[in-house]
Amino acid sequence: MSFSKNFLWGGATAANQVEGGWQEGGKGVSVSDVICLSSHGSPRVISLDLSEQCYYPSHKASESYYRFREDIALFAEIGFKMYRFSIAWTRIFPNGDEEEPNEEGLKYYDELFKELKKYNIAPLVTIQHNELPLNLAKKFNGWASREMIDCYLKLCNVLFKRYKDYVTYWIPFNEINDLGFPVGLYLHGGIIPDGLRYCSNGREVDSPQLRYQALHHVMVAAAKAVELGKKINPNFQFGHMTCHITQYPLTCNPDDILLTQQQDLVRNCFCSDVQFYGEYPYYIKRYFADNNINVEITEDDRRILKDNPHDFYSFSYYMSICVSSNPDAAQTSGNVMGGASNPYLDVSEWEWQIDPKGLRYTLNKVYDRYHVPVMITENGLGARDELIDGKVHDPYRIDYMRKHIEQMREAINDGVELIGYTPWGCIDLVAASTGQMSKRYGFIYVDADDYGAGTYKRYRKDSFYWYQKAIASNGEDLK
Ligand code: BG6
Repeated sequence: MSFSKNFLWGGATAANQVEGGWQEGGKGVSVSDVICLSSHGSPRVISLDLSEQCYYPSHKASESYYRFREDIALFAEIGFKMYRFSIAWTRIFPNGDEEEPNEEGLKYYDELFKELKKYNIAPLVTIQHNELPLNLAKKFNGWASREMIDCYLKLCNVLFKRYKDYVTYWIPFNEINDLGFPVGLYLHGGIIPDGLRYCSNGREVDSPQLRYQALHHVMVAAAKAVELGKKINPNFQFGHMTCHITQYPLTCNPDDILLTQQQDLVRNCFCSDVQFYGEYPYYIKRYFADNNINVEITEDDRRILKDNPHDFYSFSYYMSICVSSNPDAAQTSGNVMGGASNPYLDVSEWEWQIDPKGLRYTLNKVYDRYHVPVMITENGLGARDELIDGKVHDPYRIDYMRKHIEQMREAINDGVELIGYTPWGCIDLVAASTGQMSKRYGFIYVDADDYGAGTYKRYRKDSFYWYQKAIASNGEDLK
């Protein structure tokens, strides 16, 4: 067995990290537009009124807003069958609370969809990827308020009706479990508590109570989106999307084993359990009680969650961590959270542990739990690249990808129903954790530095040709 002949090979981006053009076509300001550039290890400062003297990476990003035709032509040249991207909410409803959508914003996406269709590339649309209108964050304290559900459904209604003939696969929320981590409070939840200044892991303020109430509203909104979408087009497929932080016990000490199990359930399984089984799982009650969290859930919420499960499971996978009950265990960094370091694994320059076999382990774990089709909607290596004479030699990225694809094949042989793979940042874009352009994931190099200086010309990296061959051979030729 190997990859099915309809396997969805592709790549992924998000509007706030790739588009730029932050004030074009009537676009409003999103929560991402007011976050400054930082570097590895320093938190990103949030400047709600843009007063801080800093560089705001989302304003230019990769300038795909101006170059999307060229970018899509390059994706087609690689051989993409699927392109995952997000729709910037603030292009459609600039402040989030207008009655009517912004036609100019919709026209931009009309063109993007047409361009994809021209090359037979299936869109995988993320409806919300850190792009909440800043106005809604200020007005309602973001998803902490139930009012957000209607604002979000108004957006869904417009998108589902307008693009019903273009799209089959939707992801209502990127990394829905991000609200389970402090980093999700502002970026995902649009929650602005007093004193908010930082949005990455070192942030100063947190409110688990607000985060989990917000997460509840998000999950109800996602279920309502499924309900609405299936009425508009019964063929729509909705994907749960989790930031899967794969965790291993550092030792066989039962304390490590128990801690790993508890963290895995709360961090990785909670949202998908709700979205596939339609109710809050037993273990979350104790977590809420231990952390003084009291989530308000109505009878109607319970019905909506029960009646509208998602269709497929998708996740981002970059790295794994270890869990240790020993506070002195050596630590490593990671996506949304770090953990104890694993002596068997190498790390990237940003200290994310590289663990291809962890991908096979994770695929088996999630398929065993839900038995629904699975997509890997983010994966990749953030690394520095050098452009020399128009070329970028990136053997480290090829090595990372090869080893992960080999493990995907193993998982398929294990029996996992893996249907798609959209590696992250298929074209270089600005990083979410730091805003750096120099943390590159792409097969396509974008000539710009961290401060937005450069020609923004696109160049094919060595990995571009490698991935092209991998797709052409349906995952067989990974040399
Ligand atoms: C995921 C996000 O958590 O990780 C992306 O969905 C993000 O938006 C990706 O870009 C990689 O993280 P970073 O910080 O390297 O961009």
